[in-house]
Amino acid sequence: MNSYDPDNLASAVTLNRVLEETLRLTPALYFLPRRATVDTWIETTDHRKMFIPKGTQLRLDVWHANRCEEFWGKAVTGYPAEAFAPDRWEVLAKKGITAKDMLHFGFGHGPRFCPGRFLGLLEVGLVVGAVVKMFKFTAVGKETQAKAGVSTKPADGVLVDLELRP
Ligand code: HEM
Repeated sequence: MNSYDPDNLASAVTLNRVLEETLRLTPALYFLPRRATVDTWIETTDHRKMFIPKGTQLRLDVWHANRCEEFWGKAVTGYPAEAFAPDRWEVLAKKGITAKDMLHFGFGHGPRFCPGRFLGLLEVGLVVGAVVKMFKFTAVGKETQAKAGVSTKPADGVLVDLELRP
């Protein structure tokens, strides 16, 4: 593909898998805040009952949900949950599984799900697609840690060497 535009972006398979995997491992919001507006009982996956009193402040742990071995591990996706492996999305696609079927909160979940998901994916795809066509990227550090803030950021401020492609 010579360039990416809104019409051909869906067929940019590798780019989309890299973006999906990046959002899974480094979600923009690494927790979602909630407050119980009524007394609530919930049932956990191992069938325990949990009482959440009205007014309780909750933090939904997106970071660890998106790395849960049970959902994202080798048995389901073909790769360890902690690994950056864009090809796991091909394994999932072959099984007919999408991000919607998984424990994946990159765009939230339920009634407050991000209404800008498709616009966001389009913008990110077009910008990242255009930049990687122009430059070759080489990471300066071997590994970059994520830094917690209002949103997730790279701790080293994204140190990369850029080389203009011919
Ligand atoms: C890649 C880009 C984006 C990411 C990763 C993202 C992520 C999220 C997440 C995780 C939430 C859920 C927050 C929660 O449940 O507490 C959310 C909500 C929301 N997003 Fe996005 N978003 C993106 C792009 C956009 C864009 C482009 C728009 C608007 C043009 C947008 C508008 C909103 C709005 C209005 C909400 C609040 C929905 C509600 O509370 O009912 N987002 N987003």
